[in-house]
Amino acid sequence: MTDMSQNEFPGVIPGGGDLAAFLGANKAAVDAALSDAGALLFRGFDVPDPQAFDAAVEGYGEPGFTYEDSLSNAVRTNVTPRVFTANEAPPTTEIFLHHEMAQTPLYPAKLFFYCEIAAENGGATPLCRSDWVLERLAEQAPDFVSRVKQHGVRYTNVMPGDDDAGSGQGRSWRSTLSAADRAGAEARLAQLGYSWDWQEDGSLGATTPVLDAVRALPDGRRTFFNQLIAAFRGWADSRNDPNRAITFGDGTPITGADMAPAIAIADELTHDLAWQPGDVALIDNCLVMHGRRPFEGKRRVLASLIA
Ligand code: FE2
Repeated sequence: MTDMSQNEFPGVIPGGGDLAAFLGANKAAVDAALSDAGALLFRGFDVPDPQAFDAAVEGYGEPGFTYEDSLSNAVRTNVTPRVFTANEAPPTTEIFLHHEMAQTPLYPAKLFFYCEIAAENGGATPLCRSDWVLERLAEQAPDFVSRVKQHGVRYTNVMPGDDDAGSGQGRSWRSTLSAADRAGAEARLAQLGYSWDWQEDGSLGATTPVLDAVRALPDGRRTFFNQLIAAFRGWADSRNDPNRAITFGDGTPITGADMAPAIAIADELTHDLAWQPGDVALIDNCLVMHGRRPFEGKRRVLASLIA
């Protein structure tokens, strides 16, 4: 496998030819590089269409995490069995840094992204090492870090009755919870330890059980593994107020003042991945946060999740 320079973030693996074959033949080296860098960019391989991307994911050889089973808030559409649109929120909507589905008890271990069409302007995928964020945050805001460590966090999200593609949080409760009716939704929420309340317009407010906001990786690294930044900066639509979206596990609100240091540190440590058509990225979801910059023109970035 091509050498990767030390401390490059994301790690870039230049190549050519068939990415599926490359991933199959170099799985151990790819995984070692991924564990080191947290995110890898495969550039220059021959990945002309979503089918080739699907084949590359298959070539990597790990089981998928299915969107149907997840509790993701994003509206998405499957393109192939393992590949779906990354988020159908409008181009002007910024999706802020997050670990995929860290606001739920069910999240993927890794994510693949594929750029089929790069936007004319903007549309980069910001990437941020969450272990570096936590390290800096523990120095600058030790009280906040000890509070989230001690109490955990809870998220509240209001889901519409029907998909609302105009919102980054627009997935309906029926789809999110794979439920045909209110009784089915309540049964699923109860099973997952959520609390909930029904609103007059048919939307559903759901509050998670207490979730960890700091995660210890098997190798001892600790990461700011949560959805706090995205929830605080981005969970604003006709149903959701970011000031009510996040609390400490004991129910105390997490305020703008609490969040300011984490947001500033993460912004400073963020690297924008500027897409070229045919690019494939592999991201360790426990180590690296991602988002989406606003864009102009047509952009098609597809995703596939690894269980
Ligand atoms: Fe995401």
